[in-house]
Amino acid sequence: METPSSKATEDSKTKPEDAELAKAIMARRFHPSVIGPETWEGYIFSDLKIRIKESTDFYGAVLWPSAIVLCHFLEANQDKYNLTDKNVIELGAGTGLVTIVSSLLGAKVTSTDLPDVLGNLEYNVTRNTKGHCKYIPLVTELIWGEEVQQRFPRATHCFDYILAADVVYENTQIFWAMRFRLDPENSFVDRFQQRFHLEELYDLPSLSIKLYRAWRKDKRTKD
Ligand SMILES: C[S@@+](CC[C@H](N)C(=O)[O-])C[C@H]1O[C@@H](n2cnc3c(N)ncnc32)[C@H](O)[C@@H]1O
Repeated sequence: METPSSKATEDSKTKPEDAELAKAIMARRFHPSVIGPETWEGYIFSDLKIRIKESTDFYGAVLWPSAIVLCHFLEANQDKYNLTDKNVIELGAGTGLVTIVSSLLGAKVTSTDLPDVLGNLEYNVTRNTKGHCKYIPLVTELIWGEEVQQRFPRATHCFDYILAADVVYENTQIFWAMRFRLDPENSFVDRFQQRFHLEELYDLPSLSIKLYRAWRKDKRTKD
């Protein structure tokens, strides 16, 4: 079975120019000096030792390297993307590292995932944020595409940032409505197309909006 760390090692071999950054990111990890009754993985962010409890039962109960990369970016780019007092939602939060780091950086975080992983997520989030954060993160169920409007009505849930680490699977399809305002957005679509097939569902020049369906290029069949 592919593990998060084997995938990371393979990727760093294929992109040597990224080695330095990848090394700095992976240096965030630390290991327990004494083996106790509970196993956990350690990560250092915001000068704090964060302890993450994992389980091999579900994908969401393992911490995937994408989460460490996103946390490193958020901490390293606080000046540009200041999360203080910002409304943030994390999709597929898993073991909660991104939620924890965003909360330590001052955000009001809504941390979401499938019902089965919420217990472990809540445990990790509470254990690592209690007494360290301005806002207590909210852990709640969000199944992609199901009752999103009812559970997160637009009028009351306006998020400044949506965060997601490693949530696109081989079979995941993305419905993506895009308003084109500036040239850089066109180049984003070009770059996106290098990795994803893109089907244009709507093209509405009068509104400057396109709706796309996207799926990963390595997926063999298109449903
Ligand atoms: C590969 S894990 C990544 C977890 C975490 N973001 C990380 O990087 O460590 C994918 C996450 O998406 C969640 N997930 C999968 N399908 C989902 C769905 N339909 N609705 C909500 N969450 C889902 C899983 O429970 C899991 O936590």
